[in-house]
Amino acid sequence: MGGVAKMPAAALWLLLVGVVVALGVAATPAHAFRNKTNHYDFIITETNVTRLCHEKAILTVNGQFPGPTIHARRGDVVFVNVHNRGRKNITLHWHGVDQPRNPWFDGPEFITQCPIRPGANFTYRIVFSDEEGTLWWHAHSDFDRATVHGAIVVRPKLGAAYPYPEMHKDIPIFLGEWWNVDVQHLLEETMQSGGDFKISDANTINGQPGDLFPCSRKGTFRVPVERGRTYMLRVINAGLTNDMFFAVAGHNLTVIGSDGHYLRPFTVGHIMIAAGQTMNVLLHADRAASRYYMAARTFATNSEIPVNNSTATAVLEYTDAPPSSAGTPPALADLPAVGDLGAATAYTARLRSLATDGHPVDVPARVDERMVVTVSVNVLPCGANETCDDGPINGTRFAASLNNVSFVAPAVDILDAYYSSMRGVSEPDFPGRPPLAYNFTAPGPAEELWFRAGPDFLVAQYEKNNGGPH
Ligand SMILES: *[C@@H]1O[C@H](CO)[C@@H](O)[C@H](O)[C@H]1NC(C)=O
Ligand SMILES: *[C@@H]1O[C@H](CO)[C@@H](O)[C@H](O)[C@H]1NC(C)=O
Ligand SMILES: *[C@@H]1O[C@H](CO)[C@@H](O)[C@H](O)[C@H]1NC(C)=O
Ligand SMILES: *[C@@H]1O[C@H](CO)[C@@H](O)[C@H](O)[C@H]1NC(C)=O
Ligand SMILES: *[C@@H]1O[C@H](CO)[C@@H](O)[C@H](O)[C@H]1NC(C)=O
Ligand SMILES: *[C@@H]1O[C@H](CO)[C@@H](O)[C@H](O)[C@H]1NC(C)=O
Ligand SMILES: *[C@@H]1O[C@H](CO)[C@@H](O)[C@H](O)[C@H]1NC(C)=O
Ligand SMILES: *[C@@H]1O[C@H](CO)[C@@H](O)[C@H](O)[C@H]1NC(C)=O
Ligand SMILES: *[C@@H]1O[C@H](CO)[C@@H](O)[C@H](O)[C@H]1NC(C)=O
Ligand SMILES: *[C@@H]1O[C@H](CO)[C@@H](O)[C@H](O)[C@H]1NC(C)=O
Ligand SMILES: *[C@@H]1O[C@H](CO)[C@@H](O)[C@H](O)[C@H]1NC(C)=O
Repeated sequence: MGGVAKMPAAALWLLLVGVVVALGVAATPAHAFRNKTNHYDFIITETNVTRLCHEKAILTVNGQFPGPTIHARRGDVVFVNVHNRGRKNITLHWHGVDQPRNPWFDGPEFITQCPIRPGANFTYRIVFSDEEGTLWWHAHSDFDRATVHGAIVVRPKLGAAYPYPEMHKDIPIFLGEWWNVDVQHLLEETMQSGGDFKISDANTINGQPGDLFPCSRKGTFRVPVERGRTYMLRVINAGLTNDMFFAVAGHNLTVIGSDGHYLRPFTVGHIMIAAGQTMNVLLHADRAASRYYMAARTFATNSEIPVNNSTATAVLEYTDAPPSSAGTPPALADLPAVGDLGAATAYTARLRSLATDGHPVDVPARVDERMVVTVSVNVLPCGANETCDDGPINGTRFAASLNNVSFVAPAVDILDAYYSSMRGVSEPDFPGRPPLAYNFTAPGPAEELWFRAGPDFLVAQYEKNNGGPH
């Protein structure tokens, strides 16, 4: 232990700062940051849960829904051993983690790996680089991510400060979607019928539809807050399809980060969060001692597509609220209407990177190739063993495309095929333009676009302006 005595004063000071930071975060176990590598075991199992008066078995990690949180510091390497004790193949993806030069552990099934079979295990090595804030992990096979997901919390390096006043505690808020039916059956039926997916039966906050749905009041997510404290809500939209508005009754929200990067702070009455996005928002508990609804509702612009406009709720409870108020319903949050495009664009127009010396925005400055990529939902001829009884036109099914190319999963993973120069798995001939030029911003389909089915993909070389390719 002689090294400790000789430790320079500056290093000791850094250690002390580290201890203070660790104490400020109540939810973080002290042992998690002993060294730069952290190890997690994720056990995939089927777990029975009940929502909206329906019981069903869902896939979970370690029996938790939403799943466990991964804690890391900027630049850490984290290992997650996934043990598949479910009855189907699965993979996990680390959403928003750039993973420079580490493509084998990205997770999409048949893209960067073959799935983990039932009974097998696979250890992911997750390499963090300049992400800082909130990200999330989720299954990347079939529809498993509907229930197999959790938060990734990336704190600054030891001794580095947050670029905003420190909060008292953080609270993960998962916005999600619940189906009464089994999501795997839903996927298989939809593939067979060729139609659109059946819309979810409810949106959820931390896995719970909340007070406004049948049989759900008991499970409603409740979060106690102390007056005068500041809380960080790490809002993650883990829904399969829905963009959502989110608000807390009586409280403004100060948005400070998104997708693992800091933003120039701005204060709003509600946020709009797309499926897959994360938002870090500060909430000051400075209102009357009472109970307030947190609320989430779908945002959708296309009135042709059905959505459920009901509201998922959770409850923010001041610890000094008088017990008598337990009987009265909490204050309702003011959310924009489902189709309020103005509210959504007014919000997204305010998103700006923090872009300071400590948190630069390091985008490539040189453009080598310009592309136009159209994302569309088109129709494919019905497959031999598909019924297509719910298809858009007789004998067809819906399928998505990029520049009129649809993706068909091969039987081996594409990354492996690429490195071993395997032929016939994918062709690097993805078109840089759509086959048809039309008014890309006009509402509604311009023309019927038919598909070229096949696993074409684009080989993209990405270069940062400060170094070599990733
Ligand atoms: C970090 O700690 C884990 C568990 O204690 C250990 O297995 C691992 O070797 C350590 N890694 C380093 C780089 O010290
Ligand atoms: C889940 O519920 C079903 C019946 O609804 C039961 O057969 C099964 O054993 C339960 N599974 C678990 C893991 O509890
Ligand atoms: C399950 O995964 C294995 C190995 O990764 C693969 O060979 C098999 O085709 C997969 N099964 C399905 C139904 O995708
Ligand atoms: C994980 O899988 C490896 C083979 O890939 C096997 O040797 C090992 O026993 C498995 N570990 C557990 C805990 O199941
Ligand atoms: C939304 O879902 C709830 C609960 O599943 C249901 O009672 C309600 O009728 C749905 N509303 C619409 C407009 O689809
Ligand atoms: C929220 O912000 C608006 C606009 O800045 C302001 O008028 C309102 O008083 C604020 N509400 C609370 C509860 O702080
Ligand atoms: C939800 O949809 C129903 C039926 O379409 C409509 O009556 C109701 O006003 C809508 N509610 C909201 C909050 O948009
Ligand atoms: C449908 O056909 C595909 C090949 O065209 C095959 O892989 C799949 O197993 C078939 N599904 C059923 C339900 O028969
Ligand atoms: C769909 O196509 C089938 C076979 O081509 C035909 O028998 C049927 O009448 C068509 N249905 C409609 C609604 O056009
Ligand atoms: C394309 O569509 C948008 C939205 O309807 C419209 O504002 C714009 O004028 C159109 N552009 C052309 C060139 O027609
Ligand atoms: C899209 O792809 C399909 C299938 O290859 C083809 O028939 C169709 O002509 C393509 N559409 C356009 C606009 O090129």
